[in-house]
Amino acid sequence: MVIKCLWILIDPLHPFTRYDTGLRTQMSGIRSDSRSRKGDTMARSKTPYKTYLEENEIPKAWYNLRADMKNKPAPLLNPGTLKPMTADELSGVFCRELAEQELNNTDREIAIPDEIYHFYKMYRPSPLVHAEFLEKALDTPAHIFYKFEGNNTSGSHKLNSAIAQAYYAKKQGLKGVTTETGAGQWGTALSMACAFFGLDCKVYMVKVSYEQKPFRREVMRTYGASVIPSPSDLTEVGRKILADHPGTSGSLGCAISEAVEVAVQSEGYRYVLGSVLNQVVLHQSIIGLETKAALDKLGVKPDVIIGCAGGGSNLGGLIAPFVGEKLRGEADYDIVAVEPASCPSLTRGRYVYDFCDTGMVTPIAKMYTLGHDFIPSPNHAGGLRYHGMSPVLSQLYHDGYMRAVSVEQTSVFEAAELFARTEGILPAPESSHAIRAAINEALRCKETGEEKNIVFGLTGTGYFDMKAYESYNDGKMADYIPTDEDLQRGFASIPAFDL
Ligand SMILES: Cc1ncc(COP(=O)(O)O)c(C=O)c1O
Repeated sequence: MVIKCLWILIDPLHPFTRYDTGLRTQMSGIRSDSRSRKGDTMARSKTPYKTYLEENEIPKAWYNLRADMKNKPAPLLNPGTLKPMTADELSGVFCRELAEQELNNTDREIAIPDEIYHFYKMYRPSPLVHAEFLEKALDTPAHIFYKFEGNNTSGSHKLNSAIAQAYYAKKQGLKGVTTETGAGQWGTALSMACAFFGLDCKVYMVKVSYEQKPFRREVMRTYGASVIPSPSDLTEVGRKILADHPGTSGSLGCAISEAVEVAVQSEGYRYVLGSVLNQVVLHQSIIGLETKAALDKLGVKPDVIIGCAGGGSNLGGLIAPFVGEKLRGEADYDIVAVEPASCPSLTRGRYVYDFCDTGMVTPIAKMYTLGHDFIPSPNHAGGLRYHGMSPVLSQLYHDGYMRAVSVEQTSVFEAAELFARTEGILPAPESSHAIRAAINEALRCKETGEEKNIVFGLTGTGYFDMKAYESYNDGKMADYIPTDEDLQRGFASIPAFDL
């Protein structure tokens, strides 16, 4: 039955993928005969399907990639003075220790506090899975592995940083934190983390996700968070955005502005962010450290490492130790960021200083950006609808340490469907961008006969994304690619800073 379903995917006319190089590939020739590479199948079965590290092998320290970067990511600037933000300035918005982590470009390792380590034990180490069933369906000589981060109640990798940020807020004696959430995964993770440490949690949820995902909202409320659709009329910045863009479905940029405004105006509160910032990439390095340890155990050296990129935290974390080796000249890897064609910050954005939010209340960051006013079409992968990109990843991309591709929504859901039917896990739409790119790479290997080792990050599960799956299943999903004029409107919002 599975085999029969796979044939649905064979449409030689379908433009599956849009690359920044302009290359279009087709998922032609997916074969139903999984026995066609007999010897290979036997070789594959020698690798365990799942590799779990022992509990005591969970890394004891995060790896700070910035320490190994010759060209450090450009500092966050105070938009008033255009001078680098100091720890004191950042501490008005973020918790003190997180502000220090944000600025720390020198310590290669930062010890994971015991309280966080104990929490990690609830759901880590996460498995590294050898995607044998997907390989067979594709009849590829490539070996595909994925690091599965959806194996916790919040459903994604976001918990790795949420628990760290909640811990530092508690340690500082705060009452609570505010944040934004797009897909809802970050908000859920933070709600869980705040419940663990007894902190109040206010979540500004992008309106389109709030409406599409009522159950995601209820999970957050069950963990004790209050959830507000953004833009709202509860903040000054929200009211302004609503006046300028009536009927807007919101964006991460809008929600960030609201959450920051509330944090700075509320005694005993700080703002926390689930992506983009250096500190978040640091916490997510646990993904890459575990992945590398598991691959080393298996004696597998990856050729290609793939991750979806919204604000860049999972990708930054997954690739950290591998890029570290690349930066130190010890090894080489092909590293691929995958973004939606509807929100192409790396592939079509500009590398300049811009605000991290729509309301211009944050410090400015040098990053690949589509302009802080860019509001992407309501793509179902809410977590990838962000106008900017992590300054760490932006610098690495700019310096040629990684490449980027963009993929269209329907092709992403085709990949998600194939993955669900073969590997059994229902993937989050965001994660499915990485699946799409991994499949494309495996199909290229089929053409060339290369036995590449492909590793990708499966960042989360898609059980709360059933509206998106419904629209795909009903054949109603559309692809939207912004025109150059659309992008121009976003670029026009980037201030001309006199730097
Ligand atoms: C499941 C999942 N994967 C990936 C992302 C993208 O975020 P980042 O680029 O920070 O990893 C999100 C963001 O919400 C997400 O929910």
